[in-house]
Amino acid sequence: MNADFKIDGLVLESERLILRPFCSEDLEDFYEYASVEGVGEMAGWRHHESKEKSKEILQMFIDEDKVFALVLKDSGKVIGSLGIEKYGLEDKLTEFDGYLGREIGYVLSKAYWGKGLMPEAVSAVIDYLFGVIDLDFLTCGYFDFNSQSRRVQEKCGFKPYRRLQMETSMGTSETGVLNLLINPRKDIEFIFSHPETLIYSE
Ligand SMILES: CC(C)(COP(=O)(O)OP(=O)(O)OC[C@H]1O[C@@H](n2cnc3c(N)ncnc32)[C@H](O)[C@@H]1OP(=O)(O)O)[C@@H](O)C(=O)NCCC(=O)NCCS
Repeated sequence: MNADFKIDGLVLESERLILRPFCSEDLEDFYEYASVEGVGEMAGWRHHESKEKSKEILQMFIDEDKVFALVLKDSGKVIGSLGIEKYGLEDKLTEFDGYLGREIGYVLSKAYWGKGLMPEAVSAVIDYLFGVIDLDFLTCGYFDFNSQSRRVQEKCGFKPYRRLQMETSMGTSETGVLNLLINPRKDIEFIFSHPETLIYSE
């Protein structure tokens, strides 16, 4: 089942990044990377065609309090986001009944791709969610065309879990892979449901 999660003022730190809640002053930085074509599209949402759109989504981030802003220590600039989202199909994925988890989603400004920044941010979040909050599992997905995101998840220890058809907020449907990471501090053996989409192997 989905764990409750709010950032609630939490600040995490990695070598090059600060992870903190979004605030209204982040609008310029957010719009700067969210308006670039080919960034959001990799994650299933259309790039922002107006600052108003970014303002609306930023307000949602602030209200929902589950998406970290990724701040580059060097410059203080917000260069991406990392959300601790609810995983979907909760009623169908019965293997997670009685266990607590969430789904991770992320986006990085195109100007900063290829420097290992997202694996660094994801690792910091995993350390917190497994080491401090004591979650049992995390999921994270990518569309088949997104080998960049697949690599981030591989580098962070996620394992292929299910092959699924996923809907985007652009009204399209894409095939992709949902990955799974089980808290290594725990001795969990899930009894998996729905073998027709399952690809997990230890
Ligand atoms: C996916 C994403 C977060 C990766 O972040 P990152 O910090 O660049 O990750 P890494 O530096 O570890 O690079 C990951 C892979 O991207 C590829 N890559 C590196 N630089 C790249 C570039 N400039 N352009 C395209 N791909 C690049 C490489 O294959 C790399 O894997 P490797 O380390 O095995 O060579 C980033 O590409 C992004 O924001 N993409 C758009 C949004 C998105 O896809 N979100 C995830 C949705 S599931």
